[in-house]
Amino acid sequence: MNCHLALLSCAKEKGLTFDSQGEQKTLTMLDGSEVRYIAYTDIPYVTNIEDEQYQTLNFFVPEGATQKSAILLRTYVGGYMAASARNPSATDATGRALAEGLCVCIPGSRGNNSVQDGVYTGKAPRGLLDLKAAVRYLRFNDKRMAGSADRIITDGTSAGGAMSALLGATANHPDYEPYLKAMGAAQARDDVFASVCYCPITDLDHADAAYEWLYHGLRGDGEVSDALVRQFDQYINTLALRHPKTDERLTSDNYMEYLKSWLLASASRFVQEGGAIDDSLGFSFYMSFPHTPGHRPGGPRFIRAKAIKSEVASDVDMDCYLAYVVGRQALKSCPAFDNLDSPECNVFGNAEGNPAHFTGKDVSEEVRRRVQLMNPMNYISDPKSTVAAHWYIRHGASDRDTAFPIPVNLATKLMNEGKDVDFALPWNRRHEGDYNLDNLFRWIHSILSSSHK
Ligand code: DHB
Repeated sequence: MNCHLALLSCAKEKGLTFDSQGEQKTLTMLDGSEVRYIAYTDIPYVTNIEDEQYQTLNFFVPEGATQKSAILLRTYVGGYMAASARNPSATDATGRALAEGLCVCIPGSRGNNSVQDGVYTGKAPRGLLDLKAAVRYLRFNDKRMAGSADRIITDGTSAGGAMSALLGATANHPDYEPYLKAMGAAQARDDVFASVCYCPITDLDHADAAYEWLYHGLRGDGEVSDALVRQFDQYINTLALRHPKTDERLTSDNYMEYLKSWLLASASRFVQEGGAIDDSLGFSFYMSFPHTPGHRPGGPRFIRAKAIKSEVASDVDMDCYLAYVVGRQALKSCPAFDNLDSPECNVFGNAEGNPAHFTGKDVSEEVRRRVQLMNPMNYISDPKSTVAAHWYIRHGASDRDTAFPIPVNLATKLMNEGKDVDFALPWNRRHEGDYNLDNLFRWIHSILSSSHK
């Protein structure tokens, strides 16, 4: 703590100019290989620090990095709680990024449990503001630090996935400016190049409605659930999303088919990679022979070999499939998010630490405003925000922490705005993040090589 305090008083005197002394470190990867890097730690990213434990960032520069290297900005926010600036890990995207030559920034940020002298200082949107301030710090110091602030790639899981989505969707928007100014954030832009969002728990003000719309068949009768289902239908109709392939308007009438198309894609991919899906999950398949145009397969053995590679999911009985999902992990109760024990009510609570409801007619203007600032869906088509050009969004096909329409709508809205979006509901994945890093880093390298910065 003393070390923290010394650094912080330093920050007041010097402002936000990067002049950290680095320390040489080595990270041993899971395959035994070693990655050498320099660690710059405990760097305050605002001048009006309210919480010295969380309002700092760590920055890591691998051997061989240049001014042009990309920067992976990984947040460890979970449950909308505070997260500390950490060290890179060989088991997630931070270690992999260093091994692949990217710089890594791990900022701390306040959250729903941050307390200073009995006052809660991290209620929404404070955690997001902290992360934005960290991005501004990187841009303000771009020339003084390795890596390029024009190539920041944010990454987070769950509530952290929501933070990553918010960083990508709300950048430079004037709504956040007065708060950032008051915090003493660096005067710099906070837009990012790309956002990686694993199972983002986002669009919180519509998450209850989406949850009941998807799962009401498994709930039994209930007035609250029924009303939420109707709200979701209305929401879909007002969102005015378009089908990314056909450009058809998505409405409450065709939305379920659209959602199913993402699950079918997930199942198809899984079986095409050699997986087997039990009939009890409700999927039907047909055989397609995409690689043998005009060719009738000869014998049974040939058919079998081709068929395994080209099975395509054609339909899914949602009652069966959702029963499978919920059999793996019980549903949240109703309402799933706006109940006073949830991390969400907690993050919209007040400085005394009391949770607050955040949906419905009785919500105060003040809370309503904060809810708006925490929803990326409000900013994706707003010309005053600088939306990231590239998005990698994953939500496990077995993840019931929020309902599938939440990530589907986020991805669809971004696609409708012409963004480059790699979206999937990976088969059998639950509520988890930083998986299939081979695929993630293939994507990262592809977006980096397609840009000319
Ligand atoms: C997280 C999970 C939840 O189910 C939720 O409602 C909010 C956050 C999380 O893992 O971060």
